[in-house]
Amino acid sequence: MRYKLCSENDVPESGSIIVPFFGREVHVYRSDGRVRVAANVCLHFGGPLECRDGAFVCPWHGASYDMASGKATGITRLSLTLGELGELAADLPDEKAAAGRG
Ligand code: FES
Repeated sequence: MRYKLCSENDVPESGSIIVPFFGREVHVYRSDGRVRVAANVCLHFGGPLECRDGAFVCPWHGASYDMASGKATGITRLSLTLGELGELAADLPDEKAAAGRG
């Protein structure tokens, strides 16, 4: 079974949709005409990320990441790894794919 995050029509024109992914979450959003995907995890200490004015912002200590590049603009120098919709799809046995939806 191919694991599908969401359809492109589900992705809002601004902000993001948060989608479960194997017990974790990813933000799916539009940037520069592409549908992008980023883990909902701050690289400083693992906090959740909120979408604010073109940036992912962590409410725990204020880290900020540019949504187009993933580059940090705050407390950490680490950059988010961004994907495109479809890159996170994987062929899995049905029971493992079903367990990932949560
Ligand atoms: S955990 Fe996100 S800024 Fe510290």
